[in-house]
Amino acid sequence: MKVEVINHPLINLYMTILRSKDTQSTKFRSLARKISSLMAFEIFKDLRVLPKTIETPLEKYNGVKLNDPKPCVISILRAGLIMSEGITDIFDVVSIGHIGMYRDEQTLKPINYVRKLPSDLKNRQCYLCDPMLATGGSAVSAIKTLKDHFATDIKLICLLASDPGIKRVQDSFPEVEIICAQKDNKLNENGFILPGLGDAGDRIFET
Ligand code: PRP
Repeated sequence: MKVEVINHPLINLYMTILRSKDTQSTKFRSLARKISSLMAFEIFKDLRVLPKTIETPLEKYNGVKLNDPKPCVISILRAGLIMSEGITDIFDVVSIGHIGMYRDEQTLKPINYVRKLPSDLKNRQCYLCDPMLATGGSAVSAIKTLKDHFATDIKLICLLASDPGIKRVQDSFPEVEIICAQKDNKLNENGFILPGLGDAGDRIFET
């Protein structure tokens, strides 16, 4: 399936500041949110809408309304929260789901600790937010969870994706489209994206 790297000068400008080790938490948070907002334009370009005719003060206008059921934005906690905030700053007629997991620092395997999703994800457009697609373990596990809840239409949205992470998701779920602000090609021995931006969660929440 398709991988889309949004190659936009504004996003590249913000990503450069985001990646810098000199960028402190407050600025990192606001930039990550802003980049996610900018990505919304691309993320929702195939948002399902239906025709709707309204009256302007002068005459009829053939516009659109949102399809039912409304889409769902799901964040992988913790760092995904900032993305769902940035995205819903732009478009908020969505349900919001949470999947809590962290990556065990030794095994690099995702550990699940919470799951709150709308009861039925069938026929919904699901936008899964994970700022970093490193080994891909967290994203693959989260996609499995969404599929267990009958999701059929899933897009994975990342600030930064690595080639190995993209490959892992594509090997497991070739039907899932990946949209990322930028892409790097490798990981270090600890599973961090290189050149990357460090640990997104720690930088966002200053932990
Ligand atoms: C980070 C990041 C992703 C995951 C990516 O989360 O936000 O969710 O790691 O790694 P992977 O592709 O190798 O699975 P982290 O475990 O640091 O949790 P946090 O968001 O709570 O900081």
